[in-house]
Amino acid sequence: MLASPKPVLGLVAPSGETGIAAVRPLISARGVSKTYRTVSGALVRALETMDIDIGEGDFVSIVGPSGCGKSTFLRLLAGLEEASAGTLSLSGKPLKGPSQDIGVVFQEATLLPWLTVADNIGLPGRVGGRRDDTEPRVKELLRVVGLSAFGDKYPYELSGGMQQRAAICRALLRDPKALLMDEPFGALDALTRERLNIELQRIWMASRKTVVLITHSIGESVFLGDRVIVMSSRPGKILMDIRVDLPRPRNFEETTGDPEYLRLTREIRAQLDRGAHAE
Ligand SMILES: Nc1ncnc2c1ncn2[C@@H]1O[C@H](COP(=O)(O)OP(=O)(O)O)[C@@H](O)[C@H]1O
Ligand SMILES: [Mg+2]
Repeated sequence: MLASPKPVLGLVAPSGETGIAAVRPLISARGVSKTYRTVSGALVRALETMDIDIGEGDFVSIVGPSGCGKSTFLRLLAGLEEASAGTLSLSGKPLKGPSQDIGVVFQEATLLPWLTVADNIGLPGRVGGRRDDTEPRVKELLRVVGLSAFGDKYPYELSGGMQQRAAICRALLRDPKALLMDEPFGALDALTRERLNIELQRIWMASRKTVVLITHSIGESVFLGDRVIVMSSRPGKILMDIRVDLPRPRNFEETTGDPEYLRLTREIRAQLDRGAHAE
């Protein structure tokens, strides 16, 4: 089996940096909390003191029970919402609002039905005013995800899995440093989901993007991640930050039968159970 060609950036030294060669994380959260106020005025503590460093090129999965604040955390990382407390930074600079360095993919592909697939993917480029290099980039992305023959089709002519691949292309259009994904395959059937897992791994290995993948599937979190962050139920906190050293490229047959895969999924499941019972 192939050894991982990925440089091991992995767990970066925390802010107190030890050692001379401490790598600056791409994304850093310190003491990040989020409390919502509902329309009736009640306070909902969604997230509590999240501390996390994500190194450049890392593939980090975040897994946790429904309603534990995963989407909230992703929206904070994407600059789509403000934290109630704590700080978030991107490449060492405070994160203020959405950034071109961050691409986001949600559970629904949210393609505009009146635009072709190619125009949907190219939309962030045209909005950003860089028309001329948009077209070749769209072509290249379509090729990478195997949708070359579908650029001039409309979203309704594509299957759910194809639409989601187009949404990934759109997120990658402006060549972001990080790709944040919120349960991107949650609405797909099991087989399509497996195929897209493989595809995502391939895109990640080829592009060396930093990926943060939110999922409620323990298997998916281990299959894809270099690292799995396990969250408690609301208010979400980090219960466990676990390293996944399975060789890449991973494939379903070998990886899911690997004793290490089984050990990790068991450990995560046990941790989630403990977190749920601690309520
Ligand atoms: N805009 C909002 N206003 C009030 N409460 C919210 C809002 N968004 C999320 N919440 C609440 O915050 C908690 C975490 O939500 P969310 O981040 O969507 O969880 P997850 O993605 O893990 O399922 C939930 O209890 C949810 O109801
Ligand atoms: Mg969610």
